Amino acid sequence: MPLPKAELHLHIEGTLEPELAFELARRNGVRLPFADTEALRRAYLFEDLQSFLDLYYELMGVLHTADDFHDLADAYLARAAAQGVRHAEIFFDPQAHTARGVAIGTVVEGLGRALDAAEERHGVSTRLIMCFLRDQSAESALATLESARPYLDRITGVGLDSAEVGHPPSKFREVYEAAGALGLRKVAHAGEEGPPSYIVEALDLLGVERIDHGLRCLEDSALVDRLVRERIPLTLCPLSNVRLRAIDILEEHPLPAMMDAGLLCTVNSDDPAYFGGYVGDTFHAVREALGLGEERLRELARNSFLASFLDDDEERRARLLAEVDAYDFGAEPQE
Ligand code: HPA
Ligand code: ZN
Repeated sequence: MPLPKAELHLHIEGTLEPELAFELARRNGVRLPFADTEALRRAYLFEDLQSFLDLYYELMGVLHTADDFHDLADAYLARAAAQGVRHAEIFFDPQAHTARGVAIGTVVEGLGRALDAAEERHGVSTRLIMCFLRDQSAESALATLESARPYLDRITGVGLDSAEVGHPPSKFREVYEAAGALGLRKVAHAGEEGPPSYIVEALDLLGVERIDHGLRCLEDSALVDRLVRERIPLTLCPLSNVRLRAIDILEEHPLPAMMDAGLLCTVNSDDPAYFGGYVGDTFHAVREALGLGEERLRELARNSFLASFLDDDEERRARLLAEVDAYDFGAEPQE
């Protein structure tokens, strides 16, 4: 049995495996510019965030119907559950779909159907987080929030993703204020490729509760002190950092130093179909590459539940934390 954990940084569109992409392309009569799944996999060599995003947006063009979104999410939940995920907070990018003529209601209905069944089918509790594309305008983000109003009972929070540099959090102050007024939780990608000042802006101007990535906080020791003091969780994605070349090799990932510094770190998969693994694979990879011992892995699993938006179900959080505490790694490493 794998170590129980929560996944807090996962783009559902980034779970689109080549096989499902081709199946959905066939189903919807979409032509993909790749001969087969092998040819597509060969395109998974990225220079930086933008070169990944170009393929990510192109490939999600196969998603059209509510059933497509359902099948995508159900496939992720099955895979995640097999790797010990007991709670998942799932990002989606409505603007990437509405721009192609797919209504936000279609996306939320399909994802919602899979998420509603997830606890019974896979033993995974879920939350949905709607992300704004930061390389689109602030007006577009506001219109997206407005269009989501009929579905807010299914949406726990808002996030900010896509191309970071040149699109600081300050651009989205108004929409985050409006989201907060609607009772939505707030997170944002910051400090993935962007400077530490974007992390400070996300905290001070947007009022976020967690920072997605946050890797570049290490360049500002006063910011590290603040993140430690205020117990701001970071949702790190080590395999993503290597694939998008934020760091050269996994062996050089600063995760151990960040934990030593007292940062509240979690480990997540980001876009697992593209970056070489789901969250259990990621735990395994950091264990091997960084020599993390069992107590460090247990701390990461504990942090994932502590940093989750399970505040509305403290009983479940307590139960899952107790499972982590009681977890027996046994003779054979499971992660
Ligand atoms: N960073 C920013 N935007 C994204 C990512 C990411 O890693 N994945 C999907 N959208
Ligand atoms: Zn991300």
